[in-house]
Amino acid sequence: MRLDKYLTETLGVTRKQATKLLKAGEVTVDGAVVKQGATKLADDSEVVFRDRELNLTGPRYIMLNKPSGFVCSHVDDYNPTVFVLLDEVSPEKLHVAGRLDGDTTGLVLMTDDGQWSHRITSPKHVCEKTYFVELADPVPEETIATFAEGVMLRGEKELTRPAKLVLISETEARLTITEGKYHQVKRMFASVGNRVIGLHRERIGAIELDDALEPGDYRELTEEEVAYFL
Ligand code: URA
Repeated sequence: MRLDKYLTETLGVTRKQATKLLKAGEVTVDGAVVKQGATKLADDSEVVFRDRELNLTGPRYIMLNKPSGFVCSHVDDYNPTVFVLLDEVSPEKLHVAGRLDGDTTGLVLMTDDGQWSHRITSPKHVCEKTYFVELADPVPEETIATFAEGVMLRGEKELTRPAKLVLISETEARLTITEGKYHQVKRMFASVGNRVIGLHRERIGAIELDDALEPGDYRELTEEEVAYFL
């Protein structure tokens, strides 16, 4: 992470104020005065402001607009992970609250607060997730009722929970589900003989993907957004 960004987050100052503090020689990194805001900090850099060591405290909550081709795990032999998109201190301490497939795009929430993410991912909590879905074949009207009743996915013992399907065009739809079974949306459409060719998550609970975020961009959640799952 850049030093000026680190100061804005730890001291609650604006980037302009952080630049002023740096210029005034009030900040040291590993014992030496550093004046350039663009300086990159290592994970173990010791940053001191007026004799006070700064730490990024408190849990972190992030929304990412995931591009296609990135996987939601920390390690993968073939693909880049979503964590390489973050310019954050200790990204390895964060985890994804509700993974997406490598080829799925859109809203990904990341945090180091396990209790918070549990409310999103645990089957005990009902958390709606809305996806924009592009399909290989036209979706017949009756799929709305089929998904509302629940479908039996291969290898499962129970029907999927009622899901809300809204048809947008012949081959485009918006699907809201309250579970997070492996490849759930793709398997639901496969169960009615169709094939998902594009999948984009728009919403998790009350948190909507910020449309100011380009694919690959991220931002911290607002206090209000965090509070939805507290
Ligand atoms: N359902 C899927 O099939 N894939 C995803 O990435 C998310 C939901």
